[in-house]
Amino acid sequence: MDHYRLGLLGYGTVGQGVVELLARTQDECAARAGRPLAVTRIAVGDPTRPRSLPDGCAPRIDGDPLALCHDPDIDLVVELVGGVERPREWIRAALEAGKDVVTANKAVLATHGEELFTVAREHGKLLLFEASVAAAIPILQVLQQGLPAGPIDRLTGILNGTSNRILGRLEQGMSFADALAEAQADGFAESDPTLDLSGWDAGHKLALLTRLVVGTSVSLDQIRVEGIERIEPIDLAFGERHHWKLKSLAELRRTEGGVSLGVGPAWIDAESELATVHDEYNAVLLESETFGTLVLQGKGAGGLPTAGSVVADILRAARGEGSTPAVAGEPVEICDPGLDSARHYVRFRAKDRPGVLARIAGALAEEDVSIASVEQPEATDPDRVPVHLVTHPVPTITLDAALSRLGPNGILSEEPLRIRIADTNVLRVKGPTPCPA
Ligand code: HSE
Repeated sequence: MDHYRLGLLGYGTVGQGVVELLARTQDECAARAGRPLAVTRIAVGDPTRPRSLPDGCAPRIDGDPLALCHDPDIDLVVELVGGVERPREWIRAALEAGKDVVTANKAVLATHGEELFTVAREHGKLLLFEASVAAAIPILQVLQQGLPAGPIDRLTGILNGTSNRILGRLEQGMSFADALAEAQADGFAESDPTLDLSGWDAGHKLALLTRLVVGTSVSLDQIRVEGIERIEPIDLAFGERHHWKLKSLAELRRTEGGVSLGVGPAWIDAESELATVHDEYNAVLLESETFGTLVLQGKGAGGLPTAGSVVADILRAARGEGSTPAVAGEPVEICDPGLDSARHYVRFRAKDRPGVLARIAGALAEEDVSIASVEQPEATDPDRVPVHLVTHPVPTITLDAALSRLGPNGILSEEPLRIRIADTNVLRVKGPTPCPA
């Protein structure tokens, strides 16, 4: 029987995991695909570097990704390089050359998804991307095929394993730099880890989920994205005293006219659904009037969990199954979640001088921000005394306006850090929420 011939673009952690998994489970894969599979060609940045390959796997290895995309002896192109513009060109070329494509690249699809999905549909080809969101969790399958009809009102996700791992390590008192180095050494971080830390890796994933949940395309500038770069162990210690866990949440809220979309650190109650999602695990909490609440949890980063998801797409493609997203529906109104009211935590580092607290309180009062509690532990460094403050509910943008009134003024030793306190009681099905004015 003819082999189903695979061409890989990239042979990094995930590429090696794919080749290893296919070799280790070749009989099972052949049974599920309906024919044997073979990796026959790999394009890499430096073809002269020695690569380890399983016994019996002897693909041609060269440095020409476009030639691979046009190779008539390849049935399926698997893109595992990352980045945006070069993969856009390769995926397009492969689809136009009549090949199905599997990718784990959320950045290219969040940026150029409509163009590439359109090319795939025009050529009657598959463009599958399960591994691009939450690695081992088959969330795209669930959204595309596994749920009853009926709108999902809310989606709340932990979608970046690196951030989640780092926040957990900070909770244990590890420094940010050490926690990041560990996540990189374990193969969880993107090649450019600023995408993980800035929230944009999760932002790309949220854009792809929104495409499936709402059926419309959103541009990345419509998502409020905030990172974890400025979080410190001192913040986590404060949260622990209040029975809160810090998570970087990706949130889709269906509103009356559209959706609100945001990614960023938020405190959640230590007893709430997502509080026990640790390390590189991801989770997606779906809420709907139709089916109630559904939580999916699994490894969200790492070579093998991601490779497993890529292999699942390869098998679907080999059987001619799986679906490229349908034509995007009409655009919907996108609201800024920063308009929503919530309690917030703010951490200042201030000079230990008379009047400092009064200045902070005054700036907040100017924007009508009400303080619920203040804590200022005694510190050894009089130039960097921490002040932790919790507000009554206020829109994030109003709080930001108040904090910007403090500006560079000689009383603060660094910019304040603010974190929203998510109302985890809101994580219950209540139907669409109004879009704030
Ligand atoms: N770097 C990503 C994460 C894994 O840490 O979640 C791939 O999406």
